Amino acid sequence: MTERLTIRRPDDWHLHLRDGEMLKGVLPHSARDFARAIIMPNLVPPVVRGDDARAYRDRILAALPEGADFTPLMTLYLTEDTDPDDVAEAHASGLVTAVKLYPAGATTNSASGVRDFDKVQGVLERMAEIGLPLCVHGEVTHADVDIFDREAVFIDEVLDPIRRATPGLRVVMEHITTEDAAEYVTEATGDIGATITIQHLMLDRNDMLAGGIRPHFYCLPILKRGTHRPALVEAATGGNPRFFLGTDSAPHATDLKENACGCAGCFTAPIALSCLTEVFDEAGALDRLEGFASLHGPAFYGLPVNQATITLEKGAPIDFSDSVPTGAGPVTVFNPGRPVHWRVAS
Ligand code: DOR
Ligand code: ZN
Repeated sequence: MTERLTIRRPDDWHLHLRDGEMLKGVLPHSARDFARAIIMPNLVPPVVRGDDARAYRDRILAALPEGADFTPLMTLYLTEDTDPDDVAEAHASGLVTAVKLYPAGATTNSASGVRDFDKVQGVLERMAEIGLPLCVHGEVTHADVDIFDREAVFIDEVLDPIRRATPGLRVVMEHITTEDAAEYVTEATGDIGATITIQHLMLDRNDMLAGGIRPHFYCLPILKRGTHRPALVEAATGGNPRFFLGTDSAPHATDLKENACGCAGCFTAPIALSCLTEVFDEAGALDRLEGFASLHGPAFYGLPVNQATITLEKGAPIDFSDSVPTGAGPVTVFNPGRPVHWRVAS
């Protein structure tokens, strides 16, 4: 008998859609399976002011396929010059759902991010007052900190001090990759959530580096030692509402990934739900999939849950398409390198 599972339509609480031709090529893959997504603002130039977010939202809506049911939830890119009034106005009008903090230099297009955290304290205090969440790329960028330790150091040196200095600030620790982060989020007092990606639930650094470099597994924060993955799977499948799905699907043209200095990011959107369901099935936690994918995120963001449903079906291993064509070049689709049996049936 075919195994089937129907859940409320999921949302993606961390997504890169890019702009222009890339946006047109990748957007249908998220809009097919997800009702809403938190849209990352790290364009070139970044989405800094309310007006930038409004214009970007209009471009996303214009690029949606006919009949698609997808709502982009916009974010602003926090800089040291961000104006608290502009942020508050964009929030009050319903235009933005969160503000994104990139430590300067941490990842793709983060050069305009924050170097001196004291300079953004005024904005953070305003956000705490109005209840606007801060989405955090949680990595320090000092050259003397090993890339595999950057998340754990960030928690101690940046995140915890910011949260202590700004009572009431609602924080989402994005794409957590370590047991340390899962523990911090589980144990912290106050209003905190965390997103987890598909690749960090399925892979560790050996998958990326042993027996040859696999550039399509390279993302930031980087895949960690294998001991961290089970802690992330436990956090995702354990039913704690602080954890929810954020794919961090981050498309780059294939030639920029398969490159002497390849870009960070895994393009998971087309197969995200198949892979996620496989992970929950393996963990014996299919009954908790809906919480992680469709319920915990809206609860954190104070949004209604989706009324529509999707049905997943288990069968023969699915065929992964290698790549998605876009006007900005083909983009290689994430393939975990092992069979995935679940597909989105309707
Ligand atoms: O791997 C990543 N890619 N991590 C990020 O934080 C940014 C993203 C991108 O924009 O490509
Ligand atoms: Zn991201």
